[in-house]
Amino acid sequence: MTAASGFVVRRAVEGDADAIAQLTSPPTNSLTETLALVALAAEGGLALVAVDATGRVAGHLVVSGPRAVSGGGELAIYVADERRRQGLGAALMSAAIEWARGTELTALVLDVERTNHAARALYAGHGLREVARRKNVIRLQLPLSRGSAAGD
Ligand SMILES: CC(C)(COP(=O)(O)OP(=O)(O)OC[C@H]1O[C@@H](n2cnc3c(N)ncnc32)[C@H](O)[C@@H]1OP(=O)(O)O)[C@@H](O)C(=O)NCCC(=O)NCCS
Repeated sequence: MTAASGFVVRRAVEGDADAIAQLTSPPTNSLTETLALVALAAEGGLALVAVDATGRVAGHLVVSGPRAVSGGGELAIYVADERRRQGLGAALMSAAIEWARGTELTALVLDVERTNHAARALYAGHGLREVARRKNVIRLQLPLSRGSAAGD
């Protein structure tokens, strides 16, 4: 799908679930894995993995299906600690946005902690903008008008 410094971004398959859970330290079967499995099963969702040359899953991104009310897709992303700052997050984001522009989703949305500077910089670089704020959590959104560039 997309290559970034020797990595390939491709759609996740069910066999990736364990590797996705192992991404976090300590391994988790909570939010990330659950969202992945939901997205795999849910019509309208997307689950991507970034895989290195040996086939190891090093990053993961999920967009849940359209929210009933807003029509937006909820995005979650995680890159393995030792693989950060190598362009994987950016490659995953670019692939997700390209995919989303070809769907009926009206926006990509997510919540990020105010102190998560790495994620906030990644999202800002891909055109996500603040739409709400409560305590330590910021709601970001990328509107998806067909054929427009990120940040429009
Ligand atoms: C946020 C995250 C996905 C970034 O992944 P990554 O593969 O390291 O990101 P990239 O290497 O593609 O970096 C892309 C851009 O993001 C920003 N960025 C990434 N890490 C950063 C950091 N530690 N500090 C500042 N900016 C950072 C930069 O703008 C960077 O561009 P640059 O390298 O040209 O400066 C990764 O840090 C992560 O998995 N964090 C833990 C999980 C998490 O916080 N998920 C988001 C929850 S809302």
